[in-house]
Amino acid sequence: MLSNCVRRVCEKKEICFKKSLLIRKEDIKLKISEIARQLKNQIQPENTIFLGVLKGSIFFLVDLLREIDFDVKFDFIEAKSYGTSMNSSKEVKFTKITEMDFANKIVVIVEDIVDTGFTMNEVLKLIYQKNPSKVITCVLIDKYERREVDVQIDYFGFRIEKGFVVGYGLDFADQFRCLPDIYTLEKV
Ligand code: IMP
Repeated sequence: MLSNCVRRVCEKKEICFKKSLLIRKEDIKLKISEIARQLKNQIQPENTIFLGVLKGSIFFLVDLLREIDFDVKFDFIEAKSYGTSMNSSKEVKFTKITEMDFANKIVVIVEDIVDTGFTMNEVLKLIYQKNPSKVITCVLIDKYERREVDVQIDYFGFRIEKGFVVGYGLDFADQFRCLPDIYTLEKV
């Protein structure tokens, strides 16, 4: 048995993963403060809605809103494209949508990670149909190597070339989300 192997049961099979620290929670916190400082100059609180893309953005959205420290409205949508794989199916399905009125509002889309770009592209299409005055996209991780759709990214925390990452909301098959730091994950 490998000493640093993390075992998890996924779809009834036990899988062994190698988990390596990539981004520490202290660095995530610093980066979020930096993004919040810049975002504050771009929004008017009474006219702005933050929209988190579940489930991966949950911690990022909450920490960002705390740093921004404005009384803004927020909501969530849920998009699925990965299932239990480490590759996008490229078919984005919304499993929760929002009923908020985005007309003439500044909408800040908060997403955990952009990889191929298919998910963000679908989220942007959905929001632009609702006639916002402005859309700002804010992603914690821009994983640009596999980008297939050129999508608008206004703010990003970290850029990584490749690899599959988990922690701080990011999951593999709904596991590893609650780790406070971000790790790369490889099947061994
Ligand atoms: P895209 O549609 O390929 O850009 O992928 C975006 C979605 O896939 C994100 O919202 C994540 O849920 C998921 N995803 C992409 N890469 C990763 C990763 O490295 N770790 C965990 N989830 C990922």
